[in-house]
Amino acid sequence: MEGNRYTGLIGAYGARLPLKAGARPISLGEGNTPLIRLHNLPLARERDIELYVKYEGLNPTASFKDRGMTVAVTQAVAEGSEAIICASTGNTSASAAAYAARAGIKAFVLIPDGKIAMGKLAQAIMHGAEVLQIRGNFDDGMRIVKEMVDQAPVSLVNSVNPFRLQGQKTAAFEICEALGKAPDYHCLPVGNAGNITAYWMGYSEMALAPGHPGTRACSFCGGDCAFHENLVRNRPTMLGYQASGSAPFLRGGPVSHPETLATAIRIGAPQSWEYARTASSESGGWFDEFTDEAILDAQFQLASHEGIFCEPASIVSLAGAMRDIEKGNIPPGSQVVCTLTGHGLKDTDVAQRHAEAAVTTVDADGSAVREAILGKMG
Ligand SMILES: Cc1ncc(COP(=O)(O)O)c(C=O)c1O
Repeated sequence: MEGNRYTGLIGAYGARLPLKAGARPISLGEGNTPLIRLHNLPLARERDIELYVKYEGLNPTASFKDRGMTVAVTQAVAEGSEAIICASTGNTSASAAAYAARAGIKAFVLIPDGKIAMGKLAQAIMHGAEVLQIRGNFDDGMRIVKEMVDQAPVSLVNSVNPFRLQGQKTAAFEICEALGKAPDYHCLPVGNAGNITAYWMGYSEMALAPGHPGTRACSFCGGDCAFHENLVRNRPTMLGYQASGSAPFLRGGPVSHPETLATAIRIGAPQSWEYARTASSESGGWFDEFTDEAILDAQFQLASHEGIFCEPASIVSLAGAMRDIEKGNIPPGSQVVCTLTGHGLKDTDVAQRHAEAAVTTVDADGSAVREAILGKMG
């Protein structure tokens, strides 16, 4: 028998990534995440919607960031870098810390004061990163790390580093390979706006013919793409969703004091603003927003009806799809993919607000437990 161990994105898609020749892959086996068909949401069934979630919480550090980080850190190491730096709402810091540990280099991460899920902070610390908590928000951190690359020997691994989005585009490849085509609609949470840009780049590479002008949303090639494969015929309409307190795409410009309990997308000045708007307009898409209450409700609905636990920021993709299905913006019979960007276990503080309400305390004897079971069976 011949083994065929999966070795991560660079192993799977190296020929479609612009890495330095001979670069040693820094990988934790990221990618190859499941595309799960949802069956239990009545509205999707009624409207004959083929609804899927791309469960990116099953990456090595439990978020989609690992796709970008394997490529960015591989390139940084190939260029001789011995330290990386990022600003983060949590997931980027966890991923940067893990890939730096894997590479044997140093990671510096800047996180906003007090507004980061504890699971993510624990990851960064456990992976040995130098964690700098700034008295400011993500947007302040982003401004500072961009200054630092000129002042210290560190490589920036936020999504302004084009190698990040090159890695993240591979999720679109996997979806096309799984479905045999691109979906009709692709729904994503939007924070710094890198991921929606990356998916659109990936779908464009899958669909467009070699020599055809590419998407103008690519910061790497600016439309002169060397990776067009023409393997599928269609590209999806890209739908981006934000938290109402941090919704610059809905407000038409930066939000100076972003707020939401979905801390991963608590971002007021997205770095990929122009690219995300290009992805949206080239695909005929739109943006929408959700209150924190709606976010929590949707997170619980997915976890309790489909068995999939994602973090609060992630769920806005599915909440958005459901609203657009209901309104008829997504027509009956459509094929829809929603990216669930991070795992729910990263942010259990928020989830436990539901869990506490659902716990019943009983005496430690069989009859009390039996009573409780029968009472709950209805
Ligand atoms: C879980 C999660 N979802 C969504 C996002 C938003 O992705 P982007 O910043 O690429 O728009 C982030 C960004 O940190 C995230 O951590």
